[in-house]
Amino acid sequence: MPKSLLVTGAAGFIGANFVHYWMQHHPEDKVVAYDALTYAGNRANLDPLRDNKNFSFIHADICDYDSVLQALREHSVDTVVHFAAESHVDRSITGPDAFIETNIVGTHTLLKAAREVWLSGGEAQPHRFHHVSTDEVYGSLSVDAPGFHEQQKYEPNSPYSASKAASDHLVRAYHHTYGLQVSTSNCSNNYGPYHFPEKLVPLCLTNILRGRALPVYGDGSNIRDWLYVEDHCRGIELVLEKGQVGETYNIGGNNEWNNLDIVHLLCDQLDARFAQDSSLAERFPDAPGSSGRSARDLIKFVEDRAGHDWRYAIDATRIMDELGYKPYESFETGLQRTLDWYLANEDWWRPLLPE
Ligand SMILES: NC(=O)c1ccc[n+]([C@@H]2O[C@H](COP(=O)([O-])OP(=O)(O)OC[C@H]3O[C@@H](n4cnc5c(N)ncnc54)[C@H](O)[C@@H]3O)[C@@H](O)[C@H]2O)c1
Repeated sequence: MPKSLLVTGAAGFIGANFVHYWMQHHPEDKVVAYDALTYAGNRANLDPLRDNKNFSFIHADICDYDSVLQALREHSVDTVVHFAAESHVDRSITGPDAFIETNIVGTHTLLKAAREVWLSGGEAQPHRFHHVSTDEVYGSLSVDAPGFHEQQKYEPNSPYSASKAASDHLVRAYHHTYGLQVSTSNCSNNYGPYHFPEKLVPLCLTNILRGRALPVYGDGSNIRDWLYVEDHCRGIELVLEKGQVGETYNIGGNNEWNNLDIVHLLCDQLDARFAQDSSLAERFPDAPGSSGRSARDLIKFVEDRAGHDWRYAIDATRIMDELGYKPYESFETGLQRTLDWYLANEDWWRPLLPE
């Protein structure tokens, strides 16, 4: 039986990748993309689906209860996949209010509307509310501590992670209190196509291509666990299809890197591209590779950000053992695919950059 999905935050990085992934793998399902189109949302991310009769787009805020209710009813939605969020830690430090509003109040508005539509009239409709969250809710790890597991104590350190932690608790509470059929996934850092160029990987890629400095916080030793975005989407699909209601699954690929090593890898991969393909020097004359220099020359260490978590690492044993999850991409292959995409889609990223 085809599903009808409401995907919030569908014009953002992971949401857009998820919608493309889902429509490719489940072409019979209906997908309603729901997005307020903040600075991070880009309608063009969904342009390839314009003519797909099973796809529709709603430009609205998740904090708007009436719009959410109408969307759920009009499209007979049976599955919500909730990505919409303010997602950039640096912005949460300078302006936390939007994070409280969207991540906490917005998530609660969705839960309230879902409860009204799915649970209020007599017999409950078959449904699922899947909440997409982050490993940052668990706080920071010391260098040799084991990775975060699902029973880990929540210790969020930034306004971003605190607001995501609050939303995770609300989702859990709507299951325990009202019987809403929920699931939650907490994922490590993603990278891949459609990633807004304020985040580390696309920022470095686009700065190298323009010959701009590559800012690295502190001494670059902070560690993150990285997953190619399509591998995240596949994990969410597994949780929706086989995961237990009311449960939480950590998604990751045992792929820890410190920030400086990532920047070095990106520089080296781009240098190699310039060495192989002379047309790149014509397209990107300011890139170091166009004059035979290394992109590593652009690295610039900058003052560390406030409260910068030292290390995140995901223990994905549960989703691997119980649901058979396995990421397909290594960091090297995933970055090559990412590079391919950014080189082929200059029209997408150029207008998003500040001059
Ligand atoms: N990017 C990562 O590495 C990562 C890792 C783990 C979990 N997550 C989680 O995945 C989700 C998506 O992250 P992302 O990186 O794609 O974020 P993003 O910032 O790229 O996209 C967020 C999207 O949500 C939309 N949005 C924001 N406020 C809204 C509102 N009030 N109403 C409706 N839409 C609104 C934006 O327009 C945008 O399209 C977030 O919940 C984030 O916490 C992200």
